[in-house]
Amino acid sequence: MYKKILFCAAMALMVLSGCNSGNSGNKAASPAATPSASAASPTFEEVLKTRRSIRSYDASKKITEAEVRTLLTAVQEAPSWANQQPTKYYVAIGKEKLEAVQNLVGGNKDRIINAPVLIVSTFEKGKSGFFDGKALNEIGEGWGAYDNGLSNCYLIMQARAMGFDTLIMGMRDSDGLRKEFNIPAEETVMAVIALGYRAGEPKQPGHRPFDEVVKFF
Ligand SMILES: Cc1cc2nc3c(=O)[nH]c(=O)nc-3n(C[C@H](O)[C@H](O)[C@H](O)COP(=O)(O)O)c2cc1C
Repeated sequence: MYKKILFCAAMALMVLSGCNSGNSGNKAASPAATPSASAASPTFEEVLKTRRSIRSYDASKKITEAEVRTLLTAVQEAPSWANQQPTKYYVAIGKEKLEAVQNLVGGNKDRIINAPVLIVSTFEKGKSGFFDGKALNEIGEGWGAYDNGLSNCYLIMQARAMGFDTLIMGMRDSDGLRKEFNIPAEETVMAVIALGYRAGEPKQPGHRPFDEVVKFF
């Protein structure tokens, strides 16, 4: 019982300490608990609280193809419209492909230069939200993007659970990526996600007031 109370108090402290507002800056700020540092198997709350967009990676730490396979296998658990699973991933892990992708993320280049893996996500058009080739409602291809976002959310959370860090990049050259990976016209190129290990602790981003974004009726 005593142990349980201590654990709850520790969790509450951890949650509260993550509530500082500030900019989602790049480099070191106050240290935060990291899953890899605190436990072999982080709690879901630890994953949520320590996942941040990381804009500076540790060049000395590598990630293996086997680890990326484990990560993306877990991502296959993500829900999707009628289980259409429209999301696809193109993984740059070799030196040449990494360099090519680094040059296709615009101003993000310096942020992800030391990330050992860069993952391009796409979704197949005409699947989620469609039946017999027709859009089922006004959202249309937006449901494909929705499913892609869900898969990518699984990706960044599972990555954190494995002790990795990520940066989702919407600033990217979709035509260049399409050419580089021979991505067919039937797929929409979405985000590039950097995967690696943080080089320092990021600042906590500020959040909008809860009541501004949540309404109860
Ligand atoms: C769809 C999407 C696109 C993003 N594009 C970029 C980007 O191109 N460059 C970047 O540095 N951060 C990018 N971000 C990261 C956001 O800036 C970040 O999630 C936000 O500031 C909150 O910080 P946090 O992820 O640490 O909670 C993107 C995030 C999302 C979800």
